[in-house]
Amino acid sequence: MKDRFNREIKYLRISITEKCNLKCIYCSPSEGEQCAEEREKHLTAEEIESVVRSMAQIGISKVRITGGEPLIRKDACEIIERIAKISGVEDISLTTNGVMLNKMAETLKKAGLTRLNISLDSLKEDKFSYITGGGKLKDTLAGIEKSLAIGLQPVKINTVLVKGVNDDEIDSFIELTKDMPLQVRFIELMPIGPFGEANSDKIIPNEEIIEARPQLVFDYKSNKGQPATYYTIDGYKGKVGFISPMSHKFCSTCNRIRLTSDGKLKPCLGNNGEIDLIETIRKYPDKLDHLIQDTIYNKPQGHNFGKDFSSVRSMNKIGG
Ligand code: GTP
Ligand code: 5AD
Repeated sequence: MKDRFNREIKYLRISITEKCNLKCIYCSPSEGEQCAEEREKHLTAEEIESVVRSMAQIGISKVRITGGEPLIRKDACEIIERIAKISGVEDISLTTNGVMLNKMAETLKKAGLTRLNISLDSLKEDKFSYITGGGKLKDTLAGIEKSLAIGLQPVKINTVLVKGVNDDEIDSFIELTKDMPLQVRFIELMPIGPFGEANSDKIIPNEEIIEARPQLVFDYKSNKGQPATYYTIDGYKGKVGFISPMSHKFCSTCNRIRLTSDGKLKPCLGNNGEIDLIETIRKYPDKLDHLIQDTIYNKPQGHNFGKDFSSVRSMNKIGG
């Protein structure tokens, strides 16, 4: 369905848990921020399915599962399986840190997963460990290799660049696309959560990266609401993508809506407005369709980054 700004909303991102097995610098909550994973608040697999069913009827055809780290939820595969069976859902993808993928990729594919985005912010063991709060690079690399090997493609790599932390590795990331059919995407740091909010001087505008590398040749920019612009290098198997929420807002083509693990619909990433679905799902299920449609219709025009936006939820509670 269309919102009041005539944008066709087709893409639902569902955070199925706030919990994560890593603690990335830009994603973690502030001290004292509570984890809202109390049992009664947490949507069950069945409840998630009912929201997706309701949304599929009004044109949601793409669903992405996010977290926290979605794969630590024990019923992650069951959730994917339930969603994959819903008529109208054509694409079901996952954003993960990749740590558990080596073991789970095949089961996920069988459950109906169509493609994967994997977060990877350093190719150096000690820096990877620093950025992720103790993660092991080899685990994520094994997950990437496994996904490619079993044909869960395209595999997209998400790299959030932070000045002075990992910008010395830009060329190493680009070189990954030489021999592997990966889409490596550089993402501008957004002011969501304490790290992003405190480090606006560490954002690297994507244009700087492109201008300094004439070997990057423009490939395509999707007109279907996907945020990345892609470039290629002659003879390389993969692509290099740039996601630029800070230097080039893409709100006018946004086609997304988000569902949080505690049952809130979040119509815009960079806006604190949320609509609680829990009570309606549990007590008045016949009113769910109307509430969802009303929320989609009233999606805000755009995010407020750069003004006086201060996020109520950190990224681990949104899932990107
Ligand atoms: P596909 O295009 O379907 O592959 O997904 P995606 O690239 O949107 O998903 P992913 O979870 O990999 O997110 C990549 C980056 O884009 C993350 O940093 C997200 O926070 C950011 N992103 C995703 N959706 C939005 C959005 O609606 N607004 C903004 N500003 N950033 C977004
Ligand atoms: N700015 C930009 N991207 C972020 N992500 C998490 N936090 C931020 C932030 N503050 C990215 C992660 C993950 C995706 C879902 O969101 O790298 O790949």
